[in-house]
Amino acid sequence: MQQTVLVTGASSGLGKSIATHLHSLGYTVIGTSRSPHNYSDLPFPLLALDLSSQASIDLFFAELATKITQLDVLVNNAGVGITGAVEEVNLNALRAHFDTNFFGPLAMIQQALPLMRSAGSGKIINITSIGASMGLPFRGGYSASKGALQLISEALRMEVAEFGIEVCTLAPGDYATDIASRRYYEPNKKGSPYEAMYQDSLSTMDEHVDEGNDPIEIARAVEGFIQRKKLRPHYAVGPFMQRLSLTLKKLLPQKVFERLLKNHYNL
Ligand SMILES: NC(=O)c1ccc[n+]([C@@H]2O[C@H](COP(=O)([O-])OP(=O)(O)OC[C@H]3O[C@@H](n4cnc5c(N)ncnc54)[C@H](OP(=O)(O)O)[C@@H]3O)[C@@H](O)[C@H]2O)c1
Repeated sequence: MQQTVLVTGASSGLGKSIATHLHSLGYTVIGTSRSPHNYSDLPFPLLALDLSSQASIDLFFAELATKITQLDVLVNNAGVGITGAVEEVNLNALRAHFDTNFFGPLAMIQQALPLMRSAGSGKIINITSIGASMGLPFRGGYSASKGALQLISEALRMEVAEFGIEVCTLAPGDYATDIASRRYYEPNKKGSPYEAMYQDSLSTMDEHVDEGNDPIEIARAVEGFIQRKKLRPHYAVGPFMQRLSLTLKKLLPQKVFERLLKNHYNL
C-alpha cells in the first residue's frame, strides 16, 4: 500500500527536495508552508502550518484528517536559524526560535503519535543539524534548539518502540538552501566586545551554506530511512569533514576539539 509522508517546511530547501523526491517515487506526500498560496507550482499538496502557533498546528491536523486516513511518516524538517553572541542575543527572538525549532516539532509529534499508534506502525524523522552535537560559536541558540530536539528524540524512541514506531534524527551538514537569508541575525552592535569576532564568523558561516552540498542527498537519505525496517537513533549526512567532526568530538581531548572548532570559525 502507498505510504503517506508528511514533510514540514516543504516550500523550500531540504523539505522541498525531500517532498519532491518522495512524490516522484510514488509516495503520497503532504507538505506544509506558512504561505502555501505562494507555492502553487509544487507537484504535491501544501497545507498551511505555522510551527510557532499551537492554534495553527491544531487547525493543520484538523485539515489533515479530512485528506488522509493514515500517516506513515512524519519528517519534522521545518526550521530556522539564529545567530548572535550568547551574551547579546535577544531572548524574545530566541524564545520564538525555540517555538519553531523545538516546541513546534514536538507538538507535531504529539499529534502524529495517536495516528501512528492506532496503525501499530510509523516513522518520525527529526531533522536536526551537525551543530546539534556541539555548541557552535555565535550560533549557540541554534545548537541548543537542535540539541534539545536531538535529546528528546532519544527519549521518545524508547517510549514508542513498543507501539511499532521508529524514531531517528537526521543531522545535515551544510546544504545549499535559503536558510541563511531567513535566519534571525542579532544585529552586530558597534563597540560590542564581540563585534569583530561576530562579523568574521557570520561571513564564514554564510559561505559554508552557499558552498553546501545538494539537498537531494538529504532526500535520498530520507528515502532510505523510510524503506529501512529498523532505524538507528542518529544519522549524519553531509560533507566528510563535517561528519568527521562528530567522531572527533568523541575521540579528541575537549581542549583540542575546541581549538579545531575555533580555527574553523576564524576565532
Ligand atoms: N541548509 C543547511 O545547511 C542545514 C544544515 C543543518 C540543518 N538544517 C535544517 O534543515 C531544515 C530545513 O532547512 P533549509 O536549509 O531547507 O531551510 P529553508 O530553505 O529556509 O527552509 C525552511 C523551511 O521551514 C519552513 N518554516 C520556517 N519557519 C516556519 C514556521 N514558523 N512554521 C512552519 N514552517 C516554517 C519554511 O516554510 P515557509 O517559509 O514557506 O513557511 C521552509 O519551507 C531546518 O530544520 C534546518 O535547521 C539545514
